[in-house]
Amino acid sequence: MTATVNVDGLISGERDAHISVFDHGFLYGEGVYEVLRTYGRTPFLFEAHMARLRRSAERIALPVPWTDAEILARIDATIDAAAVSLNEGPGDAYVRLLLTRGVGDLLYDPAACPTPTTVIIVKPMAEPPEKVYDEGVMISLVPVLRNHPQSVDPAIKANNLLNNALAMQQAIAKHGFEALMRNHRGELCECAQSNFFVVSQGVLRTPPLDAGLLAGITRAFVLELAAALGYRAKEETIVEGDLATADEMFLTSSTKEIVPVVRVDDLTIGDGRPGPVTRAVLAEFRRRAHAGRTPAPVNV
Ligand code: PDD
Repeated sequence: MTATVNVDGLISGERDAHISVFDHGFLYGEGVYEVLRTYGRTPFLFEAHMARLRRSAERIALPVPWTDAEILARIDATIDAAAVSLNEGPGDAYVRLLLTRGVGDLLYDPAACPTPTTVIIVKPMAEPPEKVYDEGVMISLVPVLRNHPQSVDPAIKANNLLNNALAMQQAIAKHGFEALMRNHRGELCECAQSNFFVVSQGVLRTPPLDAGLLAGITRAFVLELAAALGYRAKEETIVEGDLATADEMFLTSSTKEIVPVVRVDDLTIGDGRPGPVTRAVLAEFRRRAHAGRTPAPVNV
């Protein structure tokens, strides 16, 4: 890994980036984050990510001390500093922006931490191998439930990722690419690191937000572009039994774009190959993402 890190404005290599052990992000997982990627130099769907960051922060009563323009300037400065390592690859960057409660005494009272900590991690974008898109992946339906919305609401993109990590541990044990999770009502809601869609008779369906899931930026973008491609796309409750009748299934995430799912554990989805709707959505997604591409930073 070759990461460049910006901690409260101080940019360094990964080995020299430090935060205090008294940061409540470390102590209590108290913080929120966003993961986005660039195409060339341009962070993709930046405004949507910032809007979600602000919604997440508000849900945990964490003030965001920066305007979107200030955050973008910090991201740009970190990408500039990472230019050498980015130029070793295609130039696209993975960007993780974290905002934590900050440093303070061992108390839950937010007043203990007057200043939030801002961290930006930039590293070369490592895309899944093209085989993932050509052949599709197997995911695993795991026993661990997604957090109840009245507990740590999955709508908050929170630094406390134990629920997601436990689900992924169970999926990895089954050699699954992702962990498909049920909500407290037993409905399928989302995966540990992505949202999902099923396609039946040409209609795209994804669980509604009140199923208790992260409002994925890619999910919203796909709902929009599916309509532009002339497909019917709707938010609707999906249960395990629906997988047996689905023609296609795919995952959506900022870092993985649109990933075809061809098996859920032992159940084959459709004919076991990435379907035509998934391929059309992926092609249109990439066309739009690359249309906003700006040149990669120049190696100076
Ligand atoms: N994961 N659901 C969960 C639980 C996620 O963590 C993510 C994103 C998504 C997809 O959201 P988006 O389309 O906005 O990326 C859904 C990111 C990439 C991550 O944590 O690395």
